[in-house]
Amino acid sequence: MNNYNNENLYSNIKLIESENNLYTLEKRLEVMIPLLCNWYEQHKRELPWRNNPLPYWVWISEIMLQQTRVEAVKPYFKRFMETLPTIKDLAEAEEDVLLKLWEGLGYYSRVRNIQKTAIICMENYNGELPKTYEQLLELPGIGSYTAGAIASIAYKQLVPAVDGNVLRVITRLTADNSDITKQSVKTKMEKDLKRAMEVVSPNPSTLNQGLMELGATVCIPNGAPLCNKCPWEGICLARKNDLIGEIPYKPKKKERKIEKKTVFVVEDNGYTIIRKRESKGLLAGLYELINVEGHLTVDEAQSFWEDKLGVPVTIWPLPSAKHIFSHIEWQMIGYKVIVSSSEKKESRIKEGNHDFLFVTNEQVKDKYSLPTAFKAYSQLL
Ligand code: ADE
Repeated sequence: MNNYNNENLYSNIKLIESENNLYTLEKRLEVMIPLLCNWYEQHKRELPWRNNPLPYWVWISEIMLQQTRVEAVKPYFKRFMETLPTIKDLAEAEEDVLLKLWEGLGYYSRVRNIQKTAIICMENYNGELPKTYEQLLELPGIGSYTAGAIASIAYKQLVPAVDGNVLRVITRLTADNSDITKQSVKTKMEKDLKRAMEVVSPNPSTLNQGLMELGATVCIPNGAPLCNKCPWEGICLARKNDLIGEIPYKPKKKERKIEKKTVFVVEDNGYTIIRKRESKGLLAGLYELINVEGHLTVDEAQSFWEDKLGVPVTIWPLPSAKHIFSHIEWQMIGYKVIVSSSEKKESRIKEGNHDFLFVTNEQVKDKYSLPTAFKAYSQLL
């Protein structure tokens, strides 16, 4: 880093403030980058993948962080690396093991892409991730943000990594009310940041993680950002112009499609019943509690199961639950289905119910990954 002297920076910023409109985003960033890097060095959180940013660790942690918050990622990351410590282990892992490691994180296509990429690394790159931004970008599941994060944090390349946090921080800083859901806005920000990085030559890992960290811990979405903790408080144009609530701008999302479902928690002589979902579409290839479209009455649920199993069952209503995906909302009701008769079990398993898997609760816990969408019911197993 060229310049960590805050006195000089502040006088430069005053100059920028007085001639606001004459300066481009690029020019502002040249001054502001060192302020942020300084702040990051002093305030960064200790994260398991930060001290020793192996490319494999950075990659997996960044994909996990696209799903959820840092605190929630920590145990997932630990378990993933204990189970699959190398890219070779990942390339060779059984699909069910991978899905189990991802259980609860959502977007299971991401973990499938992770394995596709691991296989390409084994075949083409000696079991390592390639070292350039451009090569990384070619890999399944790696877009400009992840390629930028791996290239800058693990390989110290001077490339930006623009995610939602960074879009929020920079649009607020510059009071830019562009629609941040547009690819063109992100691409322009990547270009601006890259130019600024090339001029200022910061440590690329420090800058990119500084921006992410500021977005995650200070310049937070919704609610009130903690502006008095921000190294850019005095120069943030959204703050100055009272636009924090308006920026970043995102147009309203289309309404989600509502799907009603009835979900069954079956207790059949020490077994429950699950099945594997189709290999295409929502939650593709994952396991699920048996469920049907629509909200069945107790009588309908009873007929459904007695038809399926050929023995009497007892039905108990369970609380309703909701799960929200990006475009769909499941509104679920549930029933506990108790099968007391053990008579026809063997034939039930073989006949007519080819997609039913009779499994123990232990097997569900250790082997089969049931998506979080079913959690309200799977936790009752
Ligand atoms: N969010 C996503 N990646 C991050 C990182 N490396 N540091 C802080 N927050 C993040």
